[in-house]
Amino acid sequence: MPPTIRRAVPDDAAAIAAIMAAVWPDQTADPAHIASVIAEPDHAALVAAVGETIAGFVDGFLMLGPDGSRRWEVDLLAVHPDHHRQGLGRMLTAQCTAAGRSFGAGLARALIHVENTASQRTFARCGYALQPDTCRLLIRTTGVDDAAPVPPAAHLIPVLTLGYRGLWIEGRRSAAAFRAANAIRSRHGWDSAGAVVPLADQAALDAAAAAEFMPVGDYAWWHIGI
Ligand SMILES: CC(C)(COP(=O)(O)OP(=O)(O)OC[C@H]1O[C@@H](n2cnc3c(N)ncnc32)[C@H](O)[C@@H]1OP(=O)(O)O)[C@@H](O)C(=O)NCCC(=O)NCCS
Repeated sequence: MPPTIRRAVPDDAAAIAAIMAAVWPDQTADPAHIASVIAEPDHAALVAAVGETIAGFVDGFLMLGPDGSRRWEVDLLAVHPDHHRQGLGRMLTAQCTAAGRSFGAGLARALIHVENTASQRTFARCGYALQPDTCRLLIRTTGVDDAAPVPPAAHLIPVLTLGYRGLWIEGRRSAAAFRAANAIRSRHGWDSAGAVVPLADQAALDAAAAAEFMPVGDYAWWHIGI
């Protein structure tokens, strides 16, 4: 039976959580959280169905960049290992990208680990281009709200994904920006504050370290105009 790609509904949350657990066993997947994110109006979560089986999923959501432009974030693409290499990743990515166009975004992007060949190939097949900067993902999940003020040049963006609720730090990534983001994270009880910093930006890497943000790994952005 040929696979079909369709919009996810909250009832798909348990199947999505099961795929997340199979693909990322060291992370928690909460079906209630996933169901609530699927229902968000600025998200387009998609599932790949093979017969009665949900074999893969992807989530896309709208974001405003520091310049106010609409970006489509393609997030958490995953296919169950039993269904790898059957074209599902490519179909999910292509349809998620098309959904971003229908939301009025001019750019779609995905953050891919530098060693994740399968994901790189999938996005390349869908027309995405590797951006030149290698970047470090830095996050903080602990610490109290010390009411650190937000510096004017920082751009702190609340974000909701299938995996977490948190805050992305863009704009000028000073130590004050990292501290302010973590204070807001703690104030709201959100899971994490994070930033994607080019390895060439040593000042921002030092600022992150000073604010006790931890490196998660090295990634690159992949972009497509839509
Ligand atoms: C990335 C992932 C979603 C790809 O799903 P998939 O359904 O197996 O991919 P497809 O069958 O659509 O393949 C798409 C392209 O990637 C290539 N590809 C897939 N797996 C690959 C691998 N392990 N190594 C090299 N290339 C691979 C395919 O050959 C195809 O390219 P081609 O058409 O030029 O031959 C899947 O490997 C996965 O779930 N990985 C774990 C989670 C993950 O890393 N998610 C991405 C986070 S950014």
